[in-house]
Amino acid sequence: MPLLDIEGLRVDFGDRGRPLAAVEEFDLRLDVGAVRGLVGESGSGKSVAMLALMGLLGPDARIAADRLHFGDADLLALSRGARRGLLGREMAMVFQDPIASLDPCFRIGAQIEETIARHERLGRSARRERALELLRSVGIPAPASRLAAWPHQLSGGMCQRVMIAIALACRPRLLIADEPTTALDVTVQAQIMGLLLDLQRRTGMALLLVSHDLPLIAETAQRTSVMYAGRIVEERPTASLVARPRHPYTRALLDALPERHRRGERLAAIHGSVPTPGARPAGCAFHPRCPWARPRCADEAPALLADGDGSVRCHFPLDPGAASG
Ligand SMILES: Nc1ncnc2c1ncn2[C@@H]1O[C@H](COP(=O)(O)OP(=O)(O)O)[C@@H](O)[C@H]1O
Ligand SMILES: [Mg+2]
Repeated sequence: MPLLDIEGLRVDFGDRGRPLAAVEEFDLRLDVGAVRGLVGESGSGKSVAMLALMGLLGPDARIAADRLHFGDADLLALSRGARRGLLGREMAMVFQDPIASLDPCFRIGAQIEETIARHERLGRSARRERALELLRSVGIPAPASRLAAWPHQLSGGMCQRVMIAIALACRPRLLIADEPTTALDVTVQAQIMGLLLDLQRRTGMALLLVSHDLPLIAETAQRTSVMYAGRIVEERPTASLVARPRHPYTRALLDALPERHRRGERLAAIHGSVPTPGARPAGCAFHPRCPWARPRCADEAPALLADGDGSVRCHFPLDPGAASG
């Protein structure tokens, strides 16, 4: 049984008369202990999909799905209370801005201990001991003295380590990291990615890495889903996705890599931006930006179809032989 099984997830904002679908036909499966990437430019719907899964969207969001299972729990059928019980305990999330995610008014130790207390009956000293152990496990130097530190005394990278410690406080089976390194310096980015992968290996939790940055994900995730304008457009093992992309959008994300430019390939920066939910073109949502678009692409929306070792949503998938760099 997969740990996570999502089929046909849809999230609408706006009036019921004129719904704006931020996420549509969203499928995602994650095995126990697996590492998956979810990539796409800003505005693709990655965060909305993840927040819907976590039950963290506000009342203005309307969520529907054919299937939304976490382990043997049907998330759509759970009461609000039961859903909240899963949150933090079985599934946890870290976000882009670690400094804003911490409460400036409480010391680091207190914030970690509060999370532990919310889910487990432990005495004060046991909580403190666990907090210390967590700080140590996320590689914070001099962890005992850090317990008494205020968030503003820590760097962005250290704050993200603290957020990861808080997320791991109850040993979740799934950690969703949504742009965990986007706000950090490049050198710190690599350290945080290394830490996440190391923790995943040590704990056996599943890891869902969400990013606009495909190369960042490519070295870490076993399989990757590519999202565009609210929909998954390609999904397959990361190695083959990167070596032989079938969707023109995946190809465009790869061609935007500086590494390829250095090898003398054509610079194929993707012009334009992701259309907002109210402004999606008919047919394939990517067709106005697609160098390979044909008339059918403007008329008919492609379905996500099985394709080799994954699936692709395109009327005219690229020839793998020609697409590899
Ligand atoms: N609360 C909301 N109300 C209306 N539209 C929203 C809301 N939250 C997100 N959106 C829209 O949903 C789309 C997807 O956003 P998001 O999931 O944040 O993208 P990503 O995480 O891939 O950058 C965007 O067009 C965004 O403007
Ligand atoms: Mg986002």
